[in-house]
Amino acid sequence: MTNEPNLYDANQFLQLLALLRDHELEVSGMVATAYESVARDWDRKVARPALDQMLEDASARIPKGGRVLDAGCGTGHRIPEIRSAFQPDSITGVDTSTAMLDRARENTSSAFFTNGDLLNLPFESETFDAVVATWVMETLPDPKRAIEECLRVLKTGGILAYSYVNLPAHFKPGDHFHPSALHVIDEATREQEQLGANRIEFDDSAFALIKRHQRGLITTVVLGKCCNVEPHMLPINHR
Ligand SMILES: C[S@@+](CC[C@H](N)C(=O)[O-])C[C@H]1O[C@@H](n2cnc3c(N)ncnc32)[C@H](O)[C@@H]1O
Repeated sequence: MTNEPNLYDANQFLQLLALLRDHELEVSGMVATAYESVARDWDRKVARPALDQMLEDASARIPKGGRVLDAGCGTGHRIPEIRSAFQPDSITGVDTSTAMLDRARENTSSAFFTNGDLLNLPFESETFDAVVATWVMETLPDPKRAIEECLRVLKTGGILAYSYVNLPAHFKPGDHFHPSALHVIDEATREQEQLGANRIEFDDSAFALIKRHQRGLITTVVLGKCCNVEPHMLPINHR
């Protein structure tokens, strides 16, 4: 197996993200497949450090045990790291894609998976001690509502942690990207570093925002259960 990304698929994937920015409703059904095509390289080279930091920040704030929801769980890829970080009593994965859920059930028998929409989660309020949502908010038509839903199902004192990609403003559908999508991401990250805009980290308990960490194109947010979803908690194209 090669370590190089599948360049054709990665290019398609970035173009899809560019399309999503302006026409998300029309193309959102293609997202899961597109992410699948780049998942391995994306995770290993781009997302790992950001996710590790996010899970560490989130899990440090709640006791071990309890119930964790993986919202937009896909193939259940995150379940082992969620288990390791939170050491919960139970993990539930929810996703709109039955194909993804089938794969998730094959991949792990130690979590409960169910079909459901982040915009209208099929759970009672105050059910979970932690909710984790990785690489899903940026593909939704209404991420504010999704975050509100995640907060609704969170118990008082619980923690919501999510990650998303901010596509650089100059990426347009139909653009000719560099043959390696990951190289494009590296370049965009360097560009943002030169602009001095790549790291924003703060602690604002007034809004229960614990940490928003933006590194290049990747942002992770860790929230306590709160009432107001502020613009700076949303992917850039939804602010
Ligand atoms: C990029 S994958 C991420 C999967 C997983 N969180 C991970 O990190 O590997 C995005 C997932 O979100 C799911 N999804 C998209 N829209 C959704 C929605 N409205 N409600 C629930 N899941 C959704 C897709 O089916 C897909 O499995």
